[in-house]
Amino acid sequence: MRFTSIRCVFCLQVLIVSMVMGLTGCTKEYASMKVKSPLEIPMGFPEVFFPTDNEFSRERWELGKMLFFDPVLSRDSSISCASCHKPEFAFADNRSTSPGIENRSGKRNSPSLANVGYFPYLLREGGVPTLEMQVLVPIDEHNEFDFNIVDLSVKLAHNAKYAQLAKEAYNREIDPFVITRAIATFERSLISGTSPYDKFVNGDQNVLNREENSGRMLFFSERTKCTSCHGGMLFTDHSFQNNGLYLNYTDSGRLRLTGEGQDRALFKVPSLRNVGLTAPYMHDGKMESLIAVVNHYNRGGYDHVNKSELVQPLGLSFEEKKALVAFLKTLSDFEFINDKRWD
Ligand code: HEC
Ligand code: HEC
Repeated sequence: MRFTSIRCVFCLQVLIVSMVMGLTGCTKEYASMKVKSPLEIPMGFPEVFFPTDNEFSRERWELGKMLFFDPVLSRDSSISCASCHKPEFAFADNRSTSPGIENRSGKRNSPSLANVGYFPYLLREGGVPTLEMQVLVPIDEHNEFDFNIVDLSVKLAHNAKYAQLAKEAYNREIDPFVITRAIATFERSLISGTSPYDKFVNGDQNVLNREENSGRMLFFSERTKCTSCHGGMLFTDHSFQNNGLYLNYTDSGRLRLTGEGQDRALFKVPSLRNVGLTAPYMHDGKMESLIAVVNHYNRGGYDHVNKSELVQPLGLSFEEKKALVAFLKTLSDFEFINDKRWD
C-alpha cells in the first residue's frame, strides 16, 4: 500500500514534469511561429553562404538593417542605400538612373538586391567579389554618397545607438570592418523565393493560369532560348553577354574591368526574379516595360560585334509575346516585398 502510494507520487511527478516540458515545448513553438527569424530560407532554396569572419547573428542583421535605411551614410546625410534599392520594387528603383547626393546623376540602372547573397560576383561587369567589399562602392562613388568609410566611421561613432549596436554585434567600435560586415549580413537575408512561380514549382499546379503556363513553356523552350542565359534557380547563369541592345553602346560594360575588346558591351545576365516589379530594364534603364523587352528579343536585337548568337529573331505572335510577359510576372514575389522584416 505504502509502496503503491510512493509509486503514485512518483507517477504524479513524472506527469507534472512531462506536462511542464510539454507546455514549454508548446510555448517555444508558438513563439517561433510569431517571430519570423531574420534569415528565412524559402522552400527549395539552398543555405546562404556566410564568410567565417562574418557569421550570421540577429545583432549583426539589426545593425546592418539600420545602416541600410539610414541617410547618415551619405556625405550630406540626404540619401540611404534604400533610396536606390527600395523594398517595394524588390530593392531596385523605378527610375532609369537614381540620383545621388546633390541630385548628381548616375549612369546605370539600380538593380534589385533580391538574392544577392547567392551571386558569385557583383556589379554589371562582375568586378567586385563580395558583398562586404561592395559596400565601399556607393559610399565612395562621386554620384552616390561621395563620402569615405573612415569619415563615415567617425560620424557614426558620435551616435550612442550605433556604438552600442557595434559592441553587441561585433564586440568592437563602429569602424569600416563593422559597417561593411553588418550591411552585408542584412543583404544576405534579402532572399526572394515565394513567388507564384515558386508555389507552382513546389507542387501547387493550379497557381498559374493558361496564359502564364504557355508563357512558361515558351520561356523554357529551345525556340526562345531564354534559359541559355536566364537559367537556374535565379534565372541567370551569371555569365557576361551582349544581348544586342544597341549598335553602339556608350557604356563599355565588362571591357571597363578587363580591357579586352571581346568584353566590350558585355553585361552580367541579370536575374529575372521580381522582374515584374523592377522596371525600367537593362544596364541603363532604357526599356520601360516587359513588352518592350520581349519585342526587343523578338526582333533579335542589333548586330553589335559582340552580340551573342543565342539572340536571334523569334517570330513570336502577339499572343505568344503576351504570354511570355504574363509568365515573367509570375516571378513577382509579393510576400518578399511586403515582408515585415524590412519595416
Ligand atoms: C544613388 C543610387 C544608389 C545608392 C545610394 C546605392 N546603390 Fe547600390 N547600386 C546602384 C547602381 C546604379 C548599381 C549598379 C552599378 C553597376 O553595376 O555598376 C548598384 C549595385 C549594387 C549592388 C550589386 C548588385 C548586383 O546585382 O551585382 C549591390 C550589392 C548594392 N548596389 C548595394 C548597395 C548598398 C549596400 C548601398 C548602401 C551602402 C547601395 N547599394 C547604395 C545604385 C545605388
Ligand atoms: C545571350 C544571353 C541572353 C539570352 C538568350 C536572353 N537574355 Fe535576357 N538579358 C541578357 C543580358 C546580358 C541582359 C542585360 C543587358 C543589359 O544590362 O544591358 C538581359 C536582360 C533581360 C531583361 C531585363 C532584366 C532587367 O532587370 O533589366 C529581361 C526581362 C530579359 N533579359 C528577358 C529575357 C527573355 C524573355 C529571353 C528570351 C526571349 C532572354 N532574356 C534571352 C542576356 C540574355
